[in-house]
Amino acid sequence: MRRRLVIGNWKMNGDSAFNARLLADLVHGWQRSAERTLAVCVPYPYLGQAQAALAGSAIAWGAQNVHAAPSGAFTGEVSAAMLLDFGCRMVIVGHSERRQHCHETDDEVAAKAEACLEAGMTPIVCVGETLDERESGVTQDVVVRQLEAVVARNRSRVGDLVVAYEPVWAIGTGRTATPAQAQQVHAVLRDRLRAAGSEAVPILYGGSVKADNAATLFAEKDIDGGLIGGASLKATDFLAIATA
Ligand code: PGA
Repeated sequence: MRRRLVIGNWKMNGDSAFNARLLADLVHGWQRSAERTLAVCVPYPYLGQAQAALAGSAIAWGAQNVHAAPSGAFTGEVSAAMLLDFGCRMVIVGHSERRQHCHETDDEVAAKAEACLEAGMTPIVCVGETLDERESGVTQDVVVRQLEAVVARNRSRVGDLVVAYEPVWAIGTGRTATPAQAQQVHAVLRDRLRAAGSEAVPILYGGSVKADNAATLFAEKDIDGGLIGGASLKATDFLAIATA
């Protein structure tokens, strides 16, 4: 049986007071579950807050980015070892917002995934096509290219990845992929993971997942949970998604 995960991506949102309430509400509302993992990926300054607020709870936490190098002259960057120092266990890598605004390449994303794996953390590798790419019929080529870069660099540890399919046109737009559209891409990703000997890698869907559409998405055969942006900032919505 594949692991099921629902991971919140807070992006650049929150402050100490807001986070304290949200984390307390999540701890209060989440029942430990053998099948499902609930996690939040928070901005760097709040890693310590998440660590403290979630200690002893069944909710995991992680970061939203990492630098590929172990240390050195990279002003403003944070290494995998530093994240691990906080007890961090998972990191989002290759989110489309970073590919777009910070010009992260497939190679850089693969190197970041490698840094996480070497540190013993789980990289949540995001892949997804833009609207232009979908309309030009190259969705599969794009997501396979993005995934293959990570697989090629981390052949012996593909089984330790989590993959998130996030169509760029569905992120923060209120426009969700239909369950069938998402499943079609997930099946392609599953085939590639199977070819790499790691069929059981969880593949999450992300992009305007809400309490009212989560159940139909998660019912698809190859969708193993979600990477949730906006709706992860409201405890009731996030918990409803996590139990969908
Ligand atoms: P969204 O974001 O749920 O707000 O669309 C998802 C993501 O970018 O991870």
